Amino acid sequence: MMRVTIFGTGYVGLVTGACLAEMGNHVLCVDIDAAKVERLKRGEIPIYEPGLESIVQRNHAGGRLDFTTEAAPAIAHGELIFIAVGTPPDEDGSADLQYVQKVASTIGRHLDRYAVVVNKSTVPVGTADRVRTAIAAELAARGVAIEFDVVSNPEFLKEGDAVEDCLRPDRIVIGSSSERAVAVLRKLYAPFNRNHERTVVMDERSAELTKYAANAMLATKISFMNEIANIAEQVGADVEQVRRGIGSDPRIGYHFIYPGAGYGGSCFPKDVKALEYTARAHAYEPRLLSAVEAVNAAQKRKLFALLERHFDGRLQGRTIALWGLAFKPNTDDMREAPSRTLLEQLWAVGAGVRAYDPEAADETARIYGSRKDLVLCDQYAALEGADALVIVTEWKAFRSPDFERIRSTLKHAVVFDGRNIYEPKAVEAAGLAYYGIGRGRSIVQ
Ligand SMILES: NC(=O)c1ccc[n+]([C@@H]2O[C@H](COP(=O)([O-])OP(=O)(O)OC[C@H]3O[C@@H](n4cnc5c(N)ncnc54)[C@H](O)[C@@H]3O)[C@@H](O)[C@H]2O)c1
Repeated sequence: MMRVTIFGTGYVGLVTGACLAEMGNHVLCVDIDAAKVERLKRGEIPIYEPGLESIVQRNHAGGRLDFTTEAAPAIAHGELIFIAVGTPPDEDGSADLQYVQKVASTIGRHLDRYAVVVNKSTVPVGTADRVRTAIAAELAARGVAIEFDVVSNPEFLKEGDAVEDCLRPDRIVIGSSSERAVAVLRKLYAPFNRNHERTVVMDERSAELTKYAANAMLATKISFMNEIANIAEQVGADVEQVRRGIGSDPRIGYHFIYPGAGYGGSCFPKDVKALEYTARAHAYEPRLLSAVEAVNAAQKRKLFALLERHFDGRLQGRTIALWGLAFKPNTDDMREAPSRTLLEQLWAVGAGVRAYDPEAADETARIYGSRKDLVLCDQYAALEGADALVIVTEWKAFRSPDFERIRSTLKHAVVFDGRNIYEPKAVEAAGLAYYGIGRGRSIVQ
């Protein structure tokens, strides 16, 4: 059993805290959001993440997981102190480190014995040094000499699979030059390594860059495939057949080569931008990363372009049914979601939207408030009075719909499949026109 403190109870902090408690550790999570802490203490989970509620409730009830807004007792609690606060993009695209810096200073103000400070937030190369400097400055101001180590331990969990990823990580990256700190982390993560060794120890800067490289690579795969889809559309090929054709090459693989309406979420967009910023700050022009971002920005406008072409530019006064609002399935996260680009484009030309999402309706209502051109309703109710159906997120519930009901409810029998989840022939057999992403058959000539 180890005593662990975690700053930040968002997707990363809460899931990490719950999973470490599940392994028998005593975890105290700190957040400045008092309302969130109150809810967590009552066993309410502020985000939708499969499996999270039960693991939080079980460990809270078992006395291994608790929540507080008070930093001082939390710092006194942990032999390991995790930083898992947000690093949102600043206006220039760089990562905004103010929350990380604040936590570092707070740690320096209260630390009273050796601890390992573990940075789990996604942060630019060099941040471990900045955290170390901030803590040391506070200790010096207090006139005390207390040893501490700062470790970079980036997080690779995926929203929607976060608990599973955290309990069964495919790698645990530990960036540190301190043997003492590495030993503490190895002990903490030992239960996660039972099956085989997943720990990769490296220096701090490499660990920090590893996280950005991983997300930039994944974003690159998506933009690459979207570019191929756009070429397929022009030349009359079907990107889904191309996908199967290239995925069979083990050097390429089937993972993450799905064309679609673009990537979103809280990580890929901001991390690609932040890495670009870092590269430029070090006099390197990241041409590939700029292209990845540009392709994605265009792809997020793709569904609107297809709708506009189908309706000959006459979208004003029309009602469009949207299935899927979250940036991907199994989450209620709407940050940078492609649905938001489409919603805003449709509203800008005077079209209304009836939308359904299994989890993200509340978040959508929170973001956009009540407006008469947005009706949030059930899956099939979204079709009522609508001119067309657009699939924006590939939730499982959308995979095998009642096409006959879709055809008979829509005013115009047309489906825009932004995630290529349907077989065009099956949709067309039901009497619906079909548009996918990069499917030669949907080529608009
Ligand atoms: N969301 C993901 O899928 C994911 C995956 C891997 C890495 N990351 C990275 O992890 C970090 C956290 O991401 P997230 O999605 O969990 O963020 P989030 O926005 O969901 O949560 C951040 C939390 O930190 C709290 N906070 C801010 N300042 C604080 C302070 N001084 N003391 C205590 N709490 C404070 C906020 O109130 C909030 O609850 C980011 O750097 C992100 O890039 C996220």
